[in-house]
Amino acid sequence: MSNIVYLNGDFVAAADAKVSVLDRGFVFGDGVYEVIPIYSGHLFRLNYHLKRLNDSLNGVRIENPLSTSGWAEVLTTLIDNNGGGDQSLYLQVTRGVAPRDHRFPQNTPPTIFAMSNPMSEPSAELKAGIRAILVEDIRWKLCNIKAIALLPNILLRQQAVDAQATEALMYRDGLLTEGSASNLFVIKDGIIVTPPKSNLLLPGITRDLVVELCDNHQIHCEQREISVKELENADEVWVTSSTKEIVPVIEIDDIKVGSGIPGPVWKRLITLYRDYKNQFRAGNVQ
Ligand code: PDD
Repeated sequence: MSNIVYLNGDFVAAADAKVSVLDRGFVFGDGVYEVIPIYSGHLFRLNYHLKRLNDSLNGVRIENPLSTSGWAEVLTTLIDNNGGGDQSLYLQVTRGVAPRDHRFPQNTPPTIFAMSNPMSEPSAELKAGIRAILVEDIRWKLCNIKAIALLPNILLRQQAVDAQATEALMYRDGLLTEGSASNLFVIKDGIIVTPPKSNLLLPGITRDLVVELCDNHQIHCEQREISVKELENADEVWVTSSTKEIVPVIEIDDIKVGSGIPGPVWKRLITLYRDYKNQFRAGNVQ
């Protein structure tokens, strides 16, 4: 089946979807995006993703072009057009097409684009744990906005790849922020810690679900600042994202984390996470 995408009101084959070279997403990186996992044909945690999309749009002063039900209808149709099942859905909204000028254009409709691709369960490699590097956070001060302009994240991720690692963990002013495309958890003596939400990191939907699962199962989880020094003594380190779920980090800058294999607290949380997903597939939770 050919890949169908959504562009400005139409569902078309990906090869036929065309955007002007003057689109501000192309020229300035002027837009925001979301990535939503689809399980058994249904949008996982949709309302949380749409709330964050709305926050991102407000953050860059683009009016939300669709209502919550409008988004749900478009995205559901897109998933159905692409055969249901498990997919990874990407959507972006840019400030639209206008002659190149830094100031906002007047009366220009935003460009709305969404695509969805098949998604498989996280690979054995991810379950076995990944290697990471520790780098300075070189991004701007509005990291809570899910902006399509990702050059710093891309440069840091490639730096990790060049060092035979999978993710770059970032710090700013001696405090950990997040991964280049993930949130960060540090575990010591059974206590789970993740940096608090602020303008310095993306409020991850997976992060929030991990915190929620801890709350629901009386597992000690703190949201507080974490110093780089704390990484050295950590028993476990994890990164989380919608597409990769909860991934153990087993080595940072060639130094083993804890015993160098995925730890018991990760095993507990990934089991709770998978259970939650199965409940979602069965239609029992949002
Ligand atoms: N990225 N932090 C950053 C910088 C991210 O790019 C992402 C996800 C996350 C995790 O957020 P969530 O749990 O809502 O997926 C945190 C997506 C997957 C991407 O850019 O492809």
